[in-house]
Amino acid sequence: MQMNVTISRFNPDTDSVPRMEPWQVNVEEGARVLNVLDAIHALDPTLAYRSSCRAGQCGSCAVKVNGEPVLACTEEAKEGMVIEPLDLPVIQDLMVDLISGISSIPRIHTCTCGTLPSQDEVAKMKPLRDCIECLSCVSVCPAMKVTDFLGPTSMRSQMRIALDPREPGNRIREAISQGLFTCTSCNRCWRVCPKDIETPGKAIEKLREIANREGLTLPRHQEVAELVRTTGRSVESGKHVFLDLVDEVIEPYGEVKREVGFFSGCMFNARLPERALDMIEVMRHAGIRVIIPKEQVCCGSPLIRTGQTSFLDEIKERNIKAFQDRGIKTVMTMCAGCGATLKHDYETPFEVKDVSEILTETGLPPLTKVPVTATYHDPCHLMNGQQITEQPREILKDAVERFVEMPAQCCGSGGGVRSGLPDEAAALGELRRTAINKTGADIVVTICPFCEYHIQEHSDRPVKNLMTVLVEALGKKPAEL
Ligand code: FES
Repeated sequence: MQMNVTISRFNPDTDSVPRMEPWQVNVEEGARVLNVLDAIHALDPTLAYRSSCRAGQCGSCAVKVNGEPVLACTEEAKEGMVIEPLDLPVIQDLMVDLISGISSIPRIHTCTCGTLPSQDEVAKMKPLRDCIECLSCVSVCPAMKVTDFLGPTSMRSQMRIALDPREPGNRIREAISQGLFTCTSCNRCWRVCPKDIETPGKAIEKLREIANREGLTLPRHQEVAELVRTTGRSVESGKHVFLDLVDEVIEPYGEVKREVGFFSGCMFNARLPERALDMIEVMRHAGIRVIIPKEQVCCGSPLIRTGQTSFLDEIKERNIKAFQDRGIKTVMTMCAGCGATLKHDYETPFEVKDVSEILTETGLPPLTKVPVTATYHDPCHLMNGQQITEQPREILKDAVERFVEMPAQCCGSGGGVRSGLPDEAAALGELRRTAINKTGADIVVTICPFCEYHIQEHSDRPVKNLMTVLVEALGKKPAEL
């Protein structure tokens, strides 16, 4: 069959910047991206790209297809696709410099002690051993763009080594000097990994736990953990606290179509209660009864992300009990970080859904489009943590007159980076400013309170919560306290 594709070309001897080149090639039904490159190469032998095993094992063929890192040998070719090199220094066309990235991955220092890993230790290492060093994770890591972070796969390797009894020394200080605390927990590395290695949860957070046991947690992170331990909240309260402002059960204006429990999270409870009040107004119009247990506390995300897990189980129990005691079957989150934590770090007897999932399933009330051009910032814990990208866009497109896309990238506020390493968080925030300005939008809409708070400091345009925009599209005034 015939296929039209566009590929990025770059000859270091003649080009100052890459150029895009359209091609039409004949390939078999079910062809992979690599087959398309082979077909182009047959017509133009100057095309530079890599492959070796052709079976998803060597990692040499990684490229970007329509902006996403993939293995060319396993990814199905699609009509109209755009093929580019990974976001790493380009040598020529689709070939990038892999050597400097691969050579910096820490390796085990073998000892002569003769101790071999037990079966249990082998099993623990297994999820971290599948890396094929394609460097897809390195190519998308936001922390590496603004710091000297050695990268996700280096931290994966450090954790694998930490689990191996043949390693003679403790290398946690080395991992810290390589940027252990610069990771924003955006999880992008996990989502692009062709081997599905969950580096943030299985390596970085575990290394941070080791650092915590050794007393090496960042001072600001220790303060946050102490706040959670003593108050049940990870942030100091502002003037108003959402849980003190609302009744436990809030009925909709019309018939009850659905019932949910609401997990507010620290930021909406104590810092941005107006946004949670906007959500309540939207739910009342959408026919959704909202139950808000007042005993709920911090979900524990700031503890897990920073490796401070000594009293995590107690927190989890309190939260599960608060909703279970009321027979709640669906718990709704509005904070992306809380949602990802309840979905992945808890075992709950109830389902957990983001507010955007609830609203798209139940249906929006009648809206009048707000006359603005809006762009949307994907919160990492929603996009990568919960794989939710379409629902907020669907809702936003119904609520505003014009919508423009913006490439997704971490704003820099997650993983304890905003509190612990503010310069890094600010540098990533500035990258968002540039991306926002490029869209030409009047407003930036997001749904995560941490993103909203952080991006507002780095945006020339107003940043609004999706629920606030919906309140405006309902013809109502957003909550003010
Ligand atoms: Fe080896 Fe694709 S050619 S992974």
